[in-house]
Amino acid sequence: MRIAAAALALSFTATACTTPDAASQSASMTQPMVSPILTTAQAFDDQTYAQPQVARVTHVDLDLDLDFEGQQVGGKATLDVLAAPGAKEIVLDSNGLQIASVTDGAGRRLSYSVGAMSDDGGKGAPLTIQLDGAELIVIDYRAAPNAAALQWLMPEQTAGGEYPYLFSQGQAILNRTWIPTQDSPGIRQTWEARITAPKPLDVVMSGVRQGEPEDLGNGRRAFRFVMDKPVPPYLIAIAAGDIDFRAIGPRSGVWAEPVMLDRAWREVNDTEQLIEAAEELYGDYRWGRYDMIVLPPAFPYGGMENPVMTFLTPTFIAGDKSNNGLIAHELAHSWSGNLATYSSWRDGWLNEGVTSYFENRITEQVYGEQRAEQEYALSYASLVEGIEEAGADSPTTAMRSPDSISPFETEGVAIYDKGTVFLRTVENMVGRDRFDAWLTQWFDNHAFEPVTSEMFLADLREKLIGNDAQLEARLMLDEWVYGTGLPSNALKPDPQTFAAVDNAVAAYAADGTLPTANTWTGWTAAEQRRFLERMPEERTDEQLAALDARLGLSEAGNNEVLFLWLEAALRNQYDPAVPQAERFLSQVGRNKFVSPLFTALSESDWGKPIARRIYAETRDSYHSYTRGRVDATLGMTAGE
Ligand code: BES
Ligand code: ZN
Repeated sequence: MRIAAAALALSFTATACTTPDAASQSASMTQPMVSPILTTAQAFDDQTYAQPQVARVTHVDLDLDLDFEGQQVGGKATLDVLAAPGAKEIVLDSNGLQIASVTDGAGRRLSYSVGAMSDDGGKGAPLTIQLDGAELIVIDYRAAPNAAALQWLMPEQTAGGEYPYLFSQGQAILNRTWIPTQDSPGIRQTWEARITAPKPLDVVMSGVRQGEPEDLGNGRRAFRFVMDKPVPPYLIAIAAGDIDFRAIGPRSGVWAEPVMLDRAWREVNDTEQLIEAAEELYGDYRWGRYDMIVLPPAFPYGGMENPVMTFLTPTFIAGDKSNNGLIAHELAHSWSGNLATYSSWRDGWLNEGVTSYFENRITEQVYGEQRAEQEYALSYASLVEGIEEAGADSPTTAMRSPDSISPFETEGVAIYDKGTVFLRTVENMVGRDRFDAWLTQWFDNHAFEPVTSEMFLADLREKLIGNDAQLEARLMLDEWVYGTGLPSNALKPDPQTFAAVDNAVAAYAADGTLPTANTWTGWTAAEQRRFLERMPEERTDEQLAALDARLGLSEAGNNEVLFLWLEAALRNQYDPAVPQAERFLSQVGRNKFVSPLFTALSESDWGKPIARRIYAETRDSYHSYTRGRVDATLGMTAGE
């Protein structure tokens, strides 16, 4: 059952939507768009305290100051509330917010209470506000200094080394540590913000910047942003630092620290082509601008699809665009994830799996079939390996997380790689043209709305399968989405894709014959990765030294390759690699690299003390997400 958007909009008055001034008022803000919410069992999000069918937030207006000395943000959040008739209260999500007061639009105090903190802390606590008829609530608050979404960097953690830096990471449930709202992917909200920051820092957000910053005359400037399309609140993001902008195309560009900007621009200057390819595949790009920011290396992810402002790790820069699948991926989220969004964290594949499929299609179009096929083959191989490790009957390998586990326990490979292989399999069976037409209408018909697995499957059945019982049986849709392991109809990559590399691996395994340096450098990054992922796991010091000498692994310009080398070296207790691993771990906070390196160390008595020694130095420099993952790897409890 869906609450129709039109019916909800009836009680949504124009005055309830506050815009700070005429300049920042965009056309659609005068008639704010209200998205539907879903009330089916599958749509239920167990990670929010909100009860959106009773009262929900439709618009967030932030007025916040960034305090770099105190490493804290604080100010006011004004929320537009849409309440069912007779609703007495609204429940928001809060994790550590320090609330000074809650009032209505007229300044009248509203009573509120903060409930008990969840056991694991991540879900936070419910913030319940008595509405007393209010349609606007104003929360005066500060985020905790250690708000998990925010990472405050010291100047020495930046490339320029002169100024501090701040960035946020909202997904999955971290934004409740700095924004008091209903933090659930199925409760979409428009938003706007006024942010003040000390000069000369610049601020960007996942909304469109409005005009030039205002000089406040006290050493600070105010920046204004608007997102006039309803988004899930995990997509509200901010970054501030000594950053500059350089245009790429008419609607795209990149921000980075001045000393990084040129290198960043050269890596991402294909972006306009990527956008065009994406539009050709699945319809118009609906967000206006597509800008990116290359963050300092502490950023815990490869990339994050924050609308109009993709956040990127600098570690993807290889000098040859070989990791630009990352940009294709974050861009693809502008359809899969940001237009049609999972309603709960249990449907991770609807965002990430569909996006990984879409990413590969963009890659094929812009960088060619061979590269796309190689990346698909890598993805397929990690899926097979991941399922083998977890066990083919493990509930963590089902694409839709079953209720028996936490939504965050599902294996990454089951969300990303199984999702890709699933959609490739469907595409292959129904034909590319038909599948593309179907996916295009899926994004169109669910633009700015929450979706679920069962909606996806029902739509596929209705529009693509119809009465074709044979096709239905061949597709094995339910087994893919709800079943564990790898369904038998999975579309395997062409075995020829890596034939040359696999022969080289076989030769190396048989008698230690290494590829020549020329062969190695002639390989694509995907081929190099395949070699390192497939070579024998156990290696002696002599073998590792020979490998490095021949292939120049410790000098690899591609961090994906460098990481595989360091992982193999640490697993094999190779002393000469320790200083480099230590340097890498002290500079890079990307969890995908950091956690496995600590895991590799923690597997041996040789490595355990090294891991502890390095982590004692680096822990404080990591984002809360990476810190949490490494803490778990090393068996540490919080605060240890
Ligand atoms: N949205 C994800 C990052 C994410 C997922 C953050 C779940 C928190 C919870 C982003 O789009 C992503 O998938 N990043 C990948 C990129 C890769 C698959 C190309 C990453 O960071 O490695
Ligand atoms: Zn993604």
